[in-house]
Amino acid sequence: MAEPPGLDRSQAGHSPTQQPLPLSVWPTAQQSAAAQRAGRYLPASTAHPAKMLPAIARHAITAYSQPGDLVLDPMCGIGTTLVEAVHLGRHAVGVDLEPRWADLARANITHARTQGATGTATVVTGDARQLPSLLDPGLVGRVALVLTSPPYGSSIHGRSPPAPAKGSPSTTTPTPPTPATSAASPSQPCWTPSGTFWPAARRCCAPAGC
Ligand SMILES: C[S@@+](CC[C@H](N)C(=O)[O-])C[C@H]1O[C@@H](n2cnc3c(N)ncnc32)[C@H](O)[C@@H]1O
Repeated sequence: MAEPPGLDRSQAGHSPTQQPLPLSVWPTAQQSAAAQRAGRYLPASTAHPAKMLPAIARHAITAYSQPGDLVLDPMCGIGTTLVEAVHLGRHAVGVDLEPRWADLARANITHARTQGATGTATVVTGDARQLPSLLDPGLVGRVALVLTSPPYGSSIHGRSPPAPAKGSPSTTTPTPPTPATSAASPSQPCWTPSGTFWPAARRCCAPAGC
């Protein structure tokens, strides 16, 4: 992935072995979450307990993609990435394991379109680990940016187990109790770099990469 505009390597952090790490701090999302979402998202969106801040999504999409590009959020929740992408003239595709959030993401996209958003977006209910088979074949290999916020804790956010998801006919697996910073176990996390989510999403990327 290209470095974001304005990244100053002289201010980069260092790992314990003194390898420079590309760190950056974005001066964005300084309004309250409620103010950022007011009127832009359906009120039902407040039910999701782990939403991304819209301004952060906007900043990332602006920095890392161009109008007309395709943006993928493989764990899209209420669709923050998708809504901000279509407002910025990008196209978007999202996946969420829980039908409740996938439905809400679709409704938020419809709402964005009524507010003049020019991009288009689709949402699939399914397990991100099954990408790219979940997507319309015409979208596979066209993704310019993958932007997501994985589950923060030990469970999916619904109060009951999800229904069997497309691409996962026999079972669905709740997010395991592994924090993002812990060692990955290929048999468990859906969202660690060496787990099954990222390689699956990466197969959807354009040849030039995400
Ligand atoms: C932190 S939330 C994402 C919130 C989203 N960025 C938003 O603003 O609404 C993580 C989401 O991942 C979903 N999820 C968990 N495991 C998943 C999986 N294997 N495949 C797809 N979605 C998954 C959860 O249902 C939850 O909505």
